[in-house]
Amino acid sequence: MGSAGLLSTSFIIGRGREAMAFEAGAMQAPDDGGFIRISSNENARGPGRKTIEALGNTISPRVGRGYPPDNTGDLVATIADIYGVGRDHVIVGTGSGAILEAGTRAFCSTEKPLVTAAPTYGTPDQAARRIGAPVRMIRVDRSLGLDIDAMAEAAKGAGMIFFCNPNNPTGTVHNAAAMEKFIRRVKQSSPETRILIDEAYIDYTHDGAVKTAVPLAKELTGVFVTRSFSKAHGMAGLRLGYAIGQPETVKAISSAWSLGSVNTLTAAAGIASLRDPKHIEEERAENARVRDFTLQAFKSLGYEAPDCHTNCIFVDLKRPASQFREACAALKVSVGRDFPPFEKTHSRITLGTMDEMRQAVQVFKRVLTTSSTGAAAL
Ligand SMILES: Cc1ncc(COP(=O)(O)O)c(C=O)c1O
Repeated sequence: MGSAGLLSTSFIIGRGREAMAFEAGAMQAPDDGGFIRISSNENARGPGRKTIEALGNTISPRVGRGYPPDNTGDLVATIADIYGVGRDHVIVGTGSGAILEAGTRAFCSTEKPLVTAAPTYGTPDQAARRIGAPVRMIRVDRSLGLDIDAMAEAAKGAGMIFFCNPNNPTGTVHNAAAMEKFIRRVKQSSPETRILIDEAYIDYTHDGAVKTAVPLAKELTGVFVTRSFSKAHGMAGLRLGYAIGQPETVKAISSAWSLGSVNTLTAAAGIASLRDPKHIEEERAENARVRDFTLQAFKSLGYEAPDCHTNCIFVDLKRPASQFREACAALKVSVGRDFPPFEKTHSRITLGTMDEMRQAVQVFKRVLTTSSTGAAAL
């Protein structure tokens, strides 16, 4: 039986033919229960071929040994080489989410608030609430971008500021000049406040003026950048992320909370993916193609979203996200959760494969052109 023969019908319906062709080579058959799952900003195309090959090549009896796991030292060295920093500037974890939790625990407390945005990625906010740290939530501006001035102002006396660039869910981004001005301003007005720049989606940006803040993390005490392998690298299920900052900053983070133990296979895959920038280029181009198609489809229906630098769009559908979500779910398309304070108007839709989005757009059209009472009217 060929590898395609291993794929379930629900996989083919749920992930579409392009995904099947891609993933069949890896003999994977994720079962999304017949749903097109465009709710969690995962990468529907998965990792590049070289990364999958590295995973295959790493499977051997050697995985029976692993304290510490093979390949993690090489992974840290590879990251350090790419950014031109010492290994003591790098920490790796089982997903960048673990580092966001650890960073918040390291630098916020009942006396030291967290500054974050509304809406943005939620882990720092949730971590702060778990430890009883006050949270200063700064609403995005009228263009749905992070309100950089208000966040800098709110940083005075705070333990940490969480700045997601590009931002999830709004997809907006700030360029290198704006980021440098912001970071230097906060360092001057509140030198003790740590600055966390989350660049989980930066590989997807199509604005050449957007650059990583790693050079500032190298130069300035208390500034650190997190990166994820779950987005453009397509490795969400392998759980890998890292942070770069000055040694005392990253040491404080890894002492505050467990970052997990990166396993042998994941570390090998991470190295292979970092050494395959061509795949990331291709992934960015494909995501852009799908983004343009999806944004245009909504525009032709009369609904706008900001240009996005992530693998999701945040659309003003002029109706509650829950209503749209339930109506789409009834037609086997699952879209994003509520994002207060925009839950009455906006929905977040992850960009899947082109094939998935073509099918999903048909569902969106059906839902949006029927009565606003939603699923019941379909
Ligand atoms: C902005 C942002 N940061 C971090 C993460 C966590 O990613 P992971 O833990 O998979 O690396 C996510 C996941 O969706 C995200 O959207």
